[in-house]
This record gives sequence, C-alpha cells and structure tokens, in this order.
Amino acid sequence: MRLLVTGGCGFIGSAFLRLALERKVERLVNLDALSYSGRRENQAELEGDERYRFVHGDVADAELVRKIFSEERIDHVAHFAAESHVDRSLFAARAFVKTNIEGTLALLEAARAAHAEGTFKRFLHVSTDEVYGDLGETRGGGGDGVPPRNDDIFRETTPVSPKNPYAATKAGADLLALSYVRTHGLPLVVTRSSNNYGPRQFPEKLMPLVITNAILGKPVPVYGDGKNIRDWLFVEDNCEGVWAALERGRPGEVYNVGGENERENISVVKAILAALGKPESLIQFVKDRPGHDRRYALDSSKAKKELGWSPVVPFEKGLARTVDWYRKSEPWWRAIRDESFDDYYKKHYGKLGLKA
Ligand code: DAU
Repeated sequence: MRLLVTGGCGFIGSAFLRLALERKVERLVNLDALSYSGRRENQAELEGDERYRFVHGDVADAELVRKIFSEERIDHVAHFAAESHVDRSLFAARAFVKTNIEGTLALLEAARAAHAEGTFKRFLHVSTDEVYGDLGETRGGGGDGVPPRNDDIFRETTPVSPKNPYAATKAGADLLALSYVRTHGLPLVVTRSSNNYGPRQFPEKLMPLVITNAILGKPVPVYGDGKNIRDWLFVEDNCEGVWAALERGRPGEVYNVGGENERENISVVKAILAALGKPESLIQFVKDRPGHDRRYALDSSKAKKELGWSPVVPFEKGLARTVDWYRKSEPWWRAIRDESFDDYYKKHYGKLGLKA
C-alpha cells in the first residue's frame, strides 16, 4: 500500500498514522497544512521511519496534490484533513468551504487521474455523524449505557440534513466524493464517525477543554442545559474502523462508526472532574451554541457485519487514558493555549456570547 494520509498532524490523523505504520504500508505520506490545530509534534517521532514522509502543504492546493500522487505513486488515500470545530464554523465558515470542499475536490481529481491510469486502488473519505443533522428529545438512551431505541438512530440510509456550517461542508464533501464513484468509477468508501476523544485532541473541543480548564482551576463552560447527547468513541477505535473500511469497505458505500456510548454532556463533564479530583463547582452553565444539535446516535451494525469492526475501548478506560495523557502532557497543551488559544477564545467566543 502506498498511502496518502491528509491531516496527519491533527488529533485523529496522527493516531491513524501510528496505526498505519504498524500495518503493511510500503509508503506513508502525510500532507498537512499545519493550520492552528495541526501540530507537527503530533507525528514527530514518526519522522525517523524510512517509509514515512511529511509534506507541509494545503490539501486544497491541486498542483501540490497532483505532484505528491505522481512522485509517490499513491494508490490509497485516507482523507482526514478538515476544519472540524463547529463553534469556529459559526463565524469563519469560508475556511470550512476551502478545506472541506475544495480540499476534497483536489484529492478526488488526483485520484481520478491515477485511477484512469490503472494505478489507484482505494479512497477512504473520513466524515462525521453530524451530516445527518440531529435527533430530538425522544430517545431511549440518555446516556450511561441505556441503548437507544431502534427507530431513533442515524443509519447510513438516513438522508443528510446538516444543521451548522461545519456539518454542511462535510455533507457537501461526502456527496461530492460519492458522486465520483458513480460518474468516474472511483473506488471510494465513506466512514461517518461519532464524537472522538483521546490523547492529542485540540483543547477547543469539549473533553480536552474541560480537562485543561479544570487542571488550571478555570471555570468549565457547559452550553445550555448540558443535556445534549453525544456518542463517544475512543480515537483508536475510530482509526481501526477507518482502516477496516479502507481495506474491506465496498466502493460507493457509507459506514457508520459509532461508540455505542451515548452520554449527556453534563455527565461527561462530571466524570472528567471526578477523574481529576476537581470540584463540580467549576461547572458554569453558559449561553447555548446557536443551532446546537441536541442528540447524535449512530447505528454501526453495517460496519460490524461487513467490516468485522466493533468499538472495543470502554468509556471509563478511554476516559482514564485521556485524562492521564493530558496530565502528563502539560507542555503540549500549555504551548497551544499560550500561543493562540486563549486569545482566540477572548476574541470570538466573547463575540458570540458563548462564554459567560
Ligand atoms: O459528532 C462528530 C463531531 O463531534 C465531529 O464531526 C466534530 O468535528 C467534532 O468537533 C464534534 O462536534 P461537537 O460539536 O459534538 O463537539 P464539541 O467538542 O465542540 O462539543 C461537544 C458537546 O459539548 C456539544 O454538545 C457542545 C458541548 N460543549 C462544547 C464546548 C466546546 C459545551 O457544552 N461546552 C464547550 O465549551
């Protein structure tokens, strides 16, 4: 396999690079723009491996993407690169269109050309459960182990109905990608995963934000009533799902990759504070996120049946590993927060009135 991974300096992409190097790859190329959340240090220890090459560049740079394809004789793609933070998409949507739509297009075009020459084997497009929109109050789960009702869950057949600009650009990219299967015969597969968590997640997302704020003794912001539900998936479980779909997924198919672990935000926040030995008085309820999706839940039975994939890391274990990693990796997250993050918070979150 001569594999191009995009966004390999990000949270999920860097976990996938590690997994790929443990598997049979002849060549592994990572294309990453090192925008604010792409961190070169996330893959630094891999740079010594002779199978591996890091290319600093933008996935939307069609010329560069073409050059990588021909120089490296790429025959597989795992496309992670994306602007992914919903809150940022509320005030800076243009970057989402550029990376998520134009970036995907540049890759699809390069893969199409390689496919026409008979050298290309498989394109894995990484997506999200957010493309389906959200589920309402009627739920069987409320988190914490109660399985959702069967009729109240996203399946691959559920029509896409994104509710925020980030999700809309991901849905657009999914549709564009799938159109290349029909029109150009590109062997392409899509995975849609639920909320990932684990080491190296950029501390603007709920879990790492709560962990780092709590360690610093800062208030922990919970949007609205804290009862929004997410389905939490440990990052390594997602990477296994992506790998399985890359290897064994049927072209033109979408596979849901969910954690089967629905929790209300407030219960996640309390579990983190308990793991850190921090008081619940740090919790501060703040104004809700505009357009805030209420609940996501994914039916992953297709991935289980066809790919032989299942999530294996229990939430309690995944959470303990995550909290432990942030405890031990203070220089990593402190650098991020000092560099740009707290500044970003003041500027934009304040404007939206998201934080009290
Ligand atoms: O479902 C998959 C999606 O999960 C991915 O496609 C996105 O890239 C990823 O960012 C994530 O989207 P969410 O909006 O669910 O993630 P986030 O960590 O921003 O928020 C999780 C929940 O916690 C959500 O209901 C909003 C809430 N929240 C978030 C932050 C940052 C708070 O209550 N307080 C906060 O400060």
